[in-house]
Amino acid sequence: MSEQARFVIIGGTSGVGLATAAAACGRGSRVVIAGRDPQKLATALDQLQAHAVEADAVSGEAVDAGDPVALAGFMARVGPFDHLILAASGGKGAGPFAEIAEADLRKGFDAKFWVHWHAARAALPYLAERGSITFVTAASARMAAPGTSGLAAINAAIAGMVPVLARELAPRRVNTISPGVIDTAWWDQQAPAMKEAIFAGASAGAPVGRVGQAGEVAEAILALALNGFITGALLDIDGGLRLGAPA
Ligand SMILES: NC(=O)c1ccc[n+]([C@@H]2O[C@H](COP(=O)([O-])OP(=O)(O)OC[C@H]3O[C@@H](n4cnc5c(N)ncnc54)[C@H](OP(=O)(O)O)[C@@H]3O)[C@@H](O)[C@H]2O)c1
Repeated sequence: MSEQARFVIIGGTSGVGLATAAAACGRGSRVVIAGRDPQKLATALDQLQAHAVEADAVSGEAVDAGDPVALAGFMARVGPFDHLILAASGGKGAGPFAEIAEADLRKGFDAKFWVHWHAARAALPYLAERGSITFVTAASARMAAPGTSGLAAINAAIAGMVPVLARELAPRRVNTISPGVIDTAWWDQQAPAMKEAIFAGASAGAPVGRVGQAGEVAEAILALALNGFITGALLDIDGGLRLGAPA
């Protein structure tokens, strides 16, 4: 696939998705980003203009990817493209198994599993035959960390589809990337002291001794999307956090 590839990035207005959009723009690709908040979208588009080779190489729309009708309209306006990146964040779903409210876990599935599922389906009529889909899942599905069974279930449900879709949608390629703790705006929902404690714990638990940066995840996403020989793969990008404590 050429470096002039056309990307659609759902969740491209912040964090990992925005960093992926910037990296793709920097390679001369054409990029369309989507997120729900129009203000975040406008700010992200301003930032991306600095990376774009041509002024019209980057565009975006405020879309709720949990709304299949809105998604269908968005994809129709975008038209044919090469690579779909699914970086929309979830929300609820964390907490001890014995205590988590079923309603919260269902909201967690709505906000991530169903958003990714609807966006991938809506893209199919427009996705190039030699194109790709990259799902962003999470290390929670790989770590056996107490208090994350709900997040593990949501992300494992997405990751579980990937090898099947790699067969079913071929020759399109389908992959997933599994980030550990990454320093993005997503963590700003936490109280500052809690965020600091989580980052300190994740740094101590990872062989690399730190949390990750969105740009590091973005480079790995582009590798999955652009390498025509990778499909059905899950790539861990977590600084080794999933490996647990040394024996
Ligand atoms: N940060 C981490 O430590 C970490 C760790 C593991 C996995 N991940 C995964 O990595 C992905 C990116 O997370 P992030 O940290 O980059 O989060 P982020 O900075 O909060 O960015 C999330 C993006 O998704 C968009 N979004 C959320 N719901 C959407 C919807 N229904 N429709 C359209 N856009 C939607 C947000 O914009 P709007 O809010 O305006 O819609 C924003 O652009 C997520 O799937 C997350 O679960 C993150």
